[in-house]
Amino acid sequence: MTTTIPHESATKHVTGEAVYVDDIAVNEQLLVGRVVYSPHAHARIKLLDLSEARKIPGVHAVLCHKDIPGHNQMGPVVKDELCLAVDTVTFIGQAIALIAAETEEQCFEAQRHIAIVYEPLETILDLETAIARNSLLGPPAKIERGDVDTALRTAPHVLHGTLQTGAQEHWYLESQVCLCIAGEGNEMNVYSSTQHPSETQHLIAELLGVANHEVVVEVRRMGGAFGGKETQANHTACWAALLCKATGRPVKIRLFRDDDMIMTGKRHRFLSTYEVGFDDDGTLLAAKLQLNSDGGAAVDLSFAILQRAMLHVDNAYFVPNLSVVGQAYKTNLPSNTAFRGFGGPQGMAVIETIIDRVARFLKKDAADIRRRNFYGIGTRDVTHYGQKIEHNRLSTIYEQLMTSSEYEKRRREVNAFNQQHEFTKKGIAITPVKFGISFTTSFLNQAGALVNVYKDGTVLVNHGGTEMGQGLHTKIQQIAAAEFGISLHRVKVNATDTSKVPNTSATAASAGTDLNGAAVKNAVDILKARFADALAEHWTALHPEAPTRSNAIIISNDTIADTAHPERSLSFPDAMVLMNLKQVSLSATGFYKTPDIGWDKAKGFGKPFHYFSYGMAVTEVLVDILTGRHTLLRTDILHDVGDSLNPGIDIGQVEGGYIQGVGWCTTEEVKWDDKGNLMTHSPDTYKIPTVQDIPIDFRVALLQSSPNPNAIRRSKAVAEPPLMLALSAWLAIKDAISAAANHEVEPEFSLPATNEVIVMSAEKLRRELVRDHSIHNAVVK
Ligand code: MTE
Ligand code: MOS
Repeated sequence: MTTTIPHESATKHVTGEAVYVDDIAVNEQLLVGRVVYSPHAHARIKLLDLSEARKIPGVHAVLCHKDIPGHNQMGPVVKDELCLAVDTVTFIGQAIALIAAETEEQCFEAQRHIAIVYEPLETILDLETAIARNSLLGPPAKIERGDVDTALRTAPHVLHGTLQTGAQEHWYLESQVCLCIAGEGNEMNVYSSTQHPSETQHLIAELLGVANHEVVVEVRRMGGAFGGKETQANHTACWAALLCKATGRPVKIRLFRDDDMIMTGKRHRFLSTYEVGFDDDGTLLAAKLQLNSDGGAAVDLSFAILQRAMLHVDNAYFVPNLSVVGQAYKTNLPSNTAFRGFGGPQGMAVIETIIDRVARFLKKDAADIRRRNFYGIGTRDVTHYGQKIEHNRLSTIYEQLMTSSEYEKRRREVNAFNQQHEFTKKGIAITPVKFGISFTTSFLNQAGALVNVYKDGTVLVNHGGTEMGQGLHTKIQQIAAAEFGISLHRVKVNATDTSKVPNTSATAASAGTDLNGAAVKNAVDILKARFADALAEHWTALHPEAPTRSNAIIISNDTIADTAHPERSLSFPDAMVLMNLKQVSLSATGFYKTPDIGWDKAKGFGKPFHYFSYGMAVTEVLVDILTGRHTLLRTDILHDVGDSLNPGIDIGQVEGGYIQGVGWCTTEEVKWDDKGNLMTHSPDTYKIPTVQDIPIDFRVALLQSSPNPNAIRRSKAVAEPPLMLALSAWLAIKDAISAAANHEVEPEFSLPATNEVIVMSAEKLRRELVRDHSIHNAVVK
C-alpha cells in the first residue's frame, strides 16, 4: 500500500474551497467575540467596571468571571488556569473580560469603555530570576542510572557547561478560532480549531455547568497546529462558548495574529547545565544533567514536556552513567505549551552540544564521536530509563547517509574552502534523531473509530484524530480502503466529532495514525467478519451440497468472493444491499490501545515507548561571519518511517519538520521586554523560515526495506522527529564559526543561532585567538 496519493484536501487547500472554522457559513445572527486581556505581567485588579461598555449599541454581552455559570477553569491537567481572571493577573495576555457585538468596531468601542484599575506587582520574567527565587511549578523530577559521581571523578576528561535554548512561536497559519452555535436547551455546538476535541468538550461543559452530552465539538481541519492547539485552543473555545451561552446567538472568536502571539504559550525555553566525562577516544562515560524549563504562569503540559526532554537527553547515544534532573519554573509569561518535539528538541540539544564539544576537545570529527557512542545492537542497548532498544537502525542510517551525502569528501572541501576565505566560512555536521513514540502518560495511548458502510458501497470513517495538515485523514482513508480491500474513492473520512467518537486523546505525540489507524482497522475487521458470516450463511443456503466457509471469504478489488468457489462473488455495493436485506448491521466501532507499554514515572524507569523513530541529517552551511548571514547550502536526510503509508506525505512531514526546526535553531527569536511585553508579536519582528531559507540543495529520502512490526501496516510515525534533525544545521553553523579561529578555540554558542549570536560569537573567538597568539608569542620571545 506504499502509495503516494495527494493529501485528501490538497486541491481544496489551493483553490480556497477547504472549509476552516472562519469559513463556516452562519446566519445573520452571528456575533463577533473579543477578549480583553491584561497589559500587566503581574497585577492586582483593584476595579473592574463593565457597565459603560454594556451600553454601547450593538454590544450583546460584556462578561467577567462573575458571569460564568459553571466552573471558572480551563487548566487541562492541573486546574490552575482561570478562564477569566478574578482579582489578579499573572501574565500579559491573560483574559479578563469578553465582549460579543455585531461588529468588530463595536467590540473595540466597548473595550474602550471598560474601566480597569491595576496595582502592579513584582514579576519574574526570566529563568535566571525564577531559579534564583526557587519559583518552581512543582517538585523536581529525576532519572538516574549508574554511579554518575564516581564515573565523573574517574573519567580521563571532564567538560561542563550551560546551554540556553530559546522559545518558539507556533505560527500556525490559522490563528486560534472557535465558532459556537447554541442548540435547544443546554445544547452547544462547537466548531473549534483544536487538536483535542474531547478536552475542549469537557472544559466547555464544566465551564457552562452542563453535562458532557450537551456539548458537541467538531473539527473539520486546522490550518496548522504544531502543538499550539493541543491545550490552548481550549481557551478560545471556552470564551466563545461563554459568549454564545450568554447571548443565545452564534459567536465566533478569531484571534488577531498579534493577540494570538501575545496571549498564547510557546515552546518552553530551557536553561540547562551539564557535566560530562569521557575517555581519550571520545566514548562517553558519564553525564550529569540539569534541565530547567520556563513553564510560564500555569502548568499546562509543562511536566509532560519536561519529562520527554529528560527521556531524550540520551538522543541516540548510550551513556552508561547518566543522571538528569528536570525542573519547571513559574514565570509571569503565558503558560508555555506543546510544540512539535514536545521537549525532545530541548533535551537533544544538550547531548548534541556535549558530543560536539567532546569532538572539539579531542580535535576529532564530531561524526566519529557520534558513531562511537550510538546505541548498539545486543550490547549497550538499554536507555537510562531502562527501555531496551529494539530494531535499532542507527548504524544502518549512518552508513547509508555518510555515503550518499559524501560526507568525508565534503568535509575536506569545507576545510579547503575555509583555508581560502577569511570572512565567509563553511560548516558541516551530521546529527541523528532517536525519538520515542507513545504518549508518556500511558493511558492516553488509546483511540476509537466509527465506520459506517452505506448500501451504495461507500464507507464513512470517523476516528478520534484531527487533521492539521499532516495528512492523517489521507492515511486513514488509505488504511480503511486497504483493510477492506476496496478502492480509495469509496472511503471518505469525516470531520472529527465528539458525538461520533467520544473520549479521545489529543492528536499529538506523532501517534495520530498509529492509534487511530489501528482503531479503524479494528472496526473494519469487525465488519468484514460480520459480512463473511452472513455471506457464508447465504451461499451455503443456496448450495447446501458445497457450503461456503466464512474464513474462505475475502474482499479484494471491490469484490467479495468465496475463494473456494470463485463463482460465488458479489461486487462490494451489491453485497452491501444484500447485507441490509439480511438485517446485518453495516456500522461498527473500533478501539485500540497500545500494548506492552508502561513505566513508573516516579522512579523514571520502564518502557514508556512502543518503539523508536530514527533519522539523520547532514547539513552544510555558508556563514558570513561579519554579518551573521547564513545559507543552508545542502541538506541530506535519511529518515525511517517503516513501510511508508504515503511517501509523498511522509517526505512532506520530514521536510516541513526539518525546516520548522531550522527556524527554532536559527532565526526564530522570541523576545520580551523588561515588563513582560512580547516584542516579537508579528511577522515583521519574528522571523520564521521562508522559501528562501530552504537548503539550496535539499535531498530527503526515506529508509527503504525497514518495516516496523509494531504499528499499523508496518508503518511508523513521522510527525515530530524530523524537527530535531535541524540540530545539524545549528551545529554546522557552530562549525563554521569555529573555522573562523581555525578550530583552535571553541565558540560560545546558544540556540537560536541568530545573526547576532553568530557575529558576536565569531568576534569573541577572533579576539580570543589574537590574545592566545600574542600570549604564545610573548612566551616564545
Ligand atoms: N504537520 C502539519 N502540516 N501541520 C501541523 O500542525 N503538527 C505536528 C505534526 N505535523 C503539524 C504537522 C505535530 S506537533 C504533531 S504531534 C503531529 O503532526 C500530529 O499528527 P500525527 O500524530 O497524525 O502525525
Ligand atoms: Mo505535537 S507537539 O505532540 O502536538
